[in-house]
Formats: sequence, structure tokens, C-alpha cells
Amino acid sequence: MNLQFPNGFSWGAATSGPQSEGRFNKKHANVFDHWFEVEPESFHNQVGPDVASNFYNSYKEDIKLMKEVGLNSVRTSIQWTRLIDDFETATLNQDGVDFYNNVIDELLANDIKPFINLHHFDLPVELYDKYGGWESKHVVDLFVKFAEQCFKLFGDRVSEWFTHNEPMVVVDGQYLYQFHYPKVVDGKKAVQVAFNLQLASSKAVAKFKEVNTNPDGRIGIILNLTPSYPASDDPADQKAANFANLWFNQIFLDPSILGEYPAELVEILENDGVLFEATKEELAIIKENTIDILGVNFYHPHRVKQPDVSPDSLRFNWMPVKYFDNYDMPGRRMNIDRGWEIYPKALYDIAINVKENYGNIAWFVAENGMGVSNEELFQDETGVVQDDYRINFIKEHLTELHKGIEEGSNCIGYHLWTPIDCWSWSNAYKNRYGFIANNIHTQVKTIKKSGHWFKDVADNNTLEI
Ligand code: FCB
Repeated sequence: MNLQFPNGFSWGAATSGPQSEGRFNKKHANVFDHWFEVEPESFHNQVGPDVASNFYNSYKEDIKLMKEVGLNSVRTSIQWTRLIDDFETATLNQDGVDFYNNVIDELLANDIKPFINLHHFDLPVELYDKYGGWESKHVVDLFVKFAEQCFKLFGDRVSEWFTHNEPMVVVDGQYLYQFHYPKVVDGKKAVQVAFNLQLASSKAVAKFKEVNTNPDGRIGIILNLTPSYPASDDPADQKAANFANLWFNQIFLDPSILGEYPAELVEILENDGVLFEATKEELAIIKENTIDILGVNFYHPHRVKQPDVSPDSLRFNWMPVKYFDNYDMPGRRMNIDRGWEIYPKALYDIAINVKENYGNIAWFVAENGMGVSNEELFQDETGVVQDDYRINFIKEHLTELHKGIEEGSNCIGYHLWTPIDCWSWSNAYKNRYGFIANNIHTQVKTIKKSGHWFKDVADNNTLEI
């Protein structure tokens, strides 16, 4: 059977500046660059972001490979620490300007539409040391200055813009669960940072609307949506799932698309004494500057149940787990290497949720993918990784997505994470996700079986199942 996708569908893949470029010629360090300098043992096999996939040096060859696997669009990010020379005034680093101009021009010359994101976990460490990073509203304004430079420099050739990638991961990683530097554990700060990230996004949207001159230009945010399913019909489990959805998803989804926070979430945070500080003017900016397009990263759902912890034990440091607990549903399909559940139907649920509750806004799958360890074991005698598991994973997700599109969801594309195996934060190169394998010792890049397969799908705009 053949599943036909809408005309003009974006078939692509996503990466980010800090995960692909390498630190070459970068004047400033972001929080991950810095974390690796001070604690290399926190990174898998002590591999840091210094080389990443060498995109800074090999972008021309890499883009050629992206073309060969059929991508008609690619998302990457502009590193704040590469483009900007002085963060307070947002003066430019000319080498950074030249690099991003070259990358954008090279993508366009290969008929690949650039999707450009501005913040992908890569806060300049100086702004953390000086101001507390996203805890500070001054940093919010500095981000908007950086964003303005990007819109003005590249907006003539870039129409698809995004403010943040997965802001919730910054909140979780930096302020709750210690998987991002500097591993603070502080629930109240976490909530304020979530608000400040939203404010930064909405202010950048406002700036875009002010300076954009590209008639096709649009701007959005990329959120990792994790539908949260209750363990049972027990009202206490249902309540837990409702909170998990508010916390993981609606905290950015609602203000970004509807211009307002869910009243229920605000009430809970207020009762618990951890509501963010926001002025009337800031709330008005959020209200007036909703997005044009939504990017959705989907890897796995959440299975949740009522919490085990006594709310009293969290009196002194508020934590969202006060309201729900993760539930290890028996029999669920797992990707063992990454520890994530495989549940393609959630993508259909997302498609319908966006259609029904978020005005059927234009959206696309901005990341989806399968991380696998030791993929070299799957190489055939010619050195090509036979990643049939990835092909099946993509097929299953595209099938659910297609069902959502058939039912009217306004999905405009599917981007795999990632085009070329790249550096994945503290997991470094443990799990590989790409259509193209990258030997990190020799930097030789080889298209996997899934890359050849994807080219057919993209060229024909059709999935054969
Ligand atoms: C997502 C991130 C991305 C990548 C994948 C595997 O959470 O957006 O940078 O690391 O996970």
C-alpha cells in the first residue's frame, strides 16, 4: 500500500550548531563547551563538543550527502557563541557571519530549504556566570538582540525560523534533574526559567514581526511534546496524567500558540508558592505574539501514575513529581539503548491534539528518531550500516502521522533526528541517529541503508508500507 503525503511536504532532518559544527574559531564558550572543560568525565567516553561532526570544516561535503539522501529541508541552529562578538551590544563576529552565510547559501544551492533555530541548549556560559543565565530577564533581552541580528542577516534567504529547541529540557536538565550544567536543583527557579524562556521566545517573535521583510517568513518554537498517558482509570492516575500534560507540554504550548498559560497550571503553581514573577506588560507581549508554525520533537510518551512521594517531603523544594510518578507499563516496547518507549500512535494523538485544541496551526515533526549503540556491528561487507530497525521505526511513525494528516491535521513535514551522526550532549557519540554514519576517528561519512531508503520516500512523496 502507498501512503501519499501532501504536495510540498518537507522531507528533512535536523541537527544543531553545537552538536555538529565543532568549536573551531569560536571565540565564546556555551554551557556545554564549558562543562566539558571542567568535568570531562561527565561525558560518554570523555568525548566533548570540540570536533562534533566537523560541520564547520566539512559543511560543503556534508550538505552534498544530505542532498544524496533526498532531504529537501534541513534544520540547524545558529550558535549565539559563534555569531556574536559582544553579547551586551550584539556586535558581530565576522567569521561567524561568513560561516552561516556560507551554510545557508550552500543549502539553497542544493535545493534544501534551511529551517533555522536560535537556541538549542547553548547559552553562553558568560551569561550564566554574570547573570544566572535564563534566570535573568536581562539575558532574555540579550537573546532578542541576538535574534534580531539573525533575522536581519539571513532573513532574505531563510523563511522558517524557530526561537528555542525543547525549552523544557533546559528547565529539567539545568534546574531539576541535573543533566545540564550547572545542575541546580531548585523548583522555584525552574518555574521562573520556564517563564523567562517563554518570554524570550515571545519577545523574539515580536522582534521578528517588526523587522522581517521576507513575504514567506514565519516563526515558531520547537517543543518536545510527550503525551502523558495515565496508568489506569483511577481518578488519581488521571489527575496525575493531567498535571504531567500541563507541566511537560502545555506550559510552552499554550502561551506559544494561544497566548496564555493554562489557568489550572497557574493556580497549582500559585497555591504552591512557586508561581513565576511576570509583569502585566510581559503577559501582554506573550498574548500578542503567538507563533506561526510549531515544530514538534517526538521520541517517546510518558506513562504516569499517582505519585508515591508524600507532598510533605517536597515542602522545602518544590518538584513537579509532587503530582505524578513515572510508571513502567508492563509489556511496553522499549528502545533499550536509549531507554525510551517506542509508541508511534502518540504521533497521531499529537496530530489530533494540535488540530483540535490549537487552532490546527501549521506544524511539522521537527525531530523523531532512533538512537542505537554500536551501529558499526550492523555494517555489511561494503561498510554500509544495515539499519532496517530505523527504517521500520520511521515507517511506523510516518504511518500514524499520515493518519492524522488524512483526518485534517495541518502537518507540513517530517524531519528525522539527524542527517549525519552527531554529538549528543553528555551521551556524546554513544547512540547514533543519522541517515549517514560518521566515523569519529577518521571523519569518513557513509550513507546508511535508511538514507538510501529515505531518498525514495522523499523523491516520490510517498511511503510504501
Ligand atoms: C533531543 C535534542 C537533540 C538530540 C536528540 C537525541 O532531545 O533536541 O539535540 O540530542 O534529543
